[in-house]
Amino acid sequence: MADSNATLTLDGGDQQFPVHSGSVGPDVIDIRSLYAKTGAFTYDPGFTSTASCESKLTYIDGDQGVLLHRGYPIDQLAEQSSFMEVAYLLLNKELPDSATLDKFTHTITRHTMLHEQLLQFYRGFRRDAHPMAIMCGVVGALSAFYHDSTDIADPHQRMVASHRLIAKMPTIAANAYKYSVGQPFVYPDNSLSYAGNFLKMTFGVPAEDYEVDPVVESAMDKIFILHADHEQNASTSTVRLAGSSGANPFACIAAGIACLWGPAHGGANEAALNMLREIGTPDRIPEYIARAKDKNDPFRLMGFGHRVYKNFDPRAKVLSKAATDVLDKLGISDPVLDTARELEQIALKDDYFVEKKLYPNVDFYSGVILSAIGFPTSMFTALFALARTVGWVAQWNEMITDPDQKIGRPRQLYTGPTQRDYIPLDRR
Ligand code: CMC
Repeated sequence: MADSNATLTLDGGDQQFPVHSGSVGPDVIDIRSLYAKTGAFTYDPGFTSTASCESKLTYIDGDQGVLLHRGYPIDQLAEQSSFMEVAYLLLNKELPDSATLDKFTHTITRHTMLHEQLLQFYRGFRRDAHPMAIMCGVVGALSAFYHDSTDIADPHQRMVASHRLIAKMPTIAANAYKYSVGQPFVYPDNSLSYAGNFLKMTFGVPAEDYEVDPVVESAMDKIFILHADHEQNASTSTVRLAGSSGANPFACIAAGIACLWGPAHGGANEAALNMLREIGTPDRIPEYIARAKDKNDPFRLMGFGHRVYKNFDPRAKVLSKAATDVLDKLGISDPVLDTARELEQIALKDDYFVEKKLYPNVDFYSGVILSAIGFPTSMFTALFALARTVGWVAQWNEMITDPDQKIGRPRQLYTGPTQRDYIPLDRR
């Protein structure tokens, strides 16, 4: 099985460890026997050099700016495919033919409604609740409503749960928005596309007909494709870790949503647009660049930098172009786009950003498009969660069927007190 061996010298003794090669990408040193052989652990906070699993889903070459889903480049998928097709590809390994895609789309469409009782759940939230708070709660609560798809040992139940999650996420996200603006929930319209249905549930009102704008529908679908999966990022690793204990899929995806919410991850799209609006005009950019470079200031350029991409984020390239296209087609002139373009140009020429290889990431331009479509910034991360659900469920399914799968249980470098005797309260 091993392609070669690596030798570790520790306390004068040599130990051999197998080295495995993937189909592409860095080799991995298989250190599963390290503790048994040496009594030592590895130390890698933030997993900067650790492959946590074997996967056939998504490949990233951060130096070349490459992102492949099942081998297909993200720019080709974004330009030529559809979100339903990418969802099928991620879940089922190959692109579907036309009849298979129709069947898959029909299956997803049949699961778009929420259990009516679940709608009551929304009413327990404050009207000003962040949509991500609602998403965490409602998605976790799905476990209490769909008992017939929580047996993770049954492949059929796993697939039903995956379809339900992909299908219901737009309804859940749209309802979170409707609740915040005090409008009635709009039921799914299964004659529409996945993106079109989501737009209608978000922006439609029962009192009026809602026409899906094809420009907006296509931009929405592209944004969903670009966020569908991204290898072992923080939220996906969270889903896998939660799932490794045997937790049901709805609970696992709720855990992923919680992790995605952070501003260093999916929350960056909201933070990036808020930052661009705060900057306001291009003349204030130098002030913010200076703050981002100041070690004593916690401020960072949101939508810039990436753990893996050290050249450019291919998703940002697609979105940068899409931002101009969408605003042009919608006839919107938003100074935020000018500020974003200027900020990108200035940062890319600045030594600090050049040396640290900090480039715009997916979150830098997505907010400009989402804002043009009419979403409030608080919905941005919820849209990311909606799209990433496809990747989460695909990764979760892959993990459950991996024969090497074990409960995820990292170890630690302990630096706290060694054993000491308890001192009663009256003697402290
Ligand atoms: N602005 C200013 N400086 C930065 C930035 C930034 N956006 N990002 C990284 N740096 C600096 C950082 O201060 C550090 O400097 P030094 O080596 O002197 O201490 C160096 O670059 C490396 O940064 P790091 O935090 O060690 O790198 P990381 O791989 O742990 O973090 C990151 C990656 C994405 C969390 C980080 O770049 C960041 O916080 N960016 C802003 C938030 C953001 O846009 N996140 C979205 C990521 S893409 C979508 C997603 O994953 O959800």
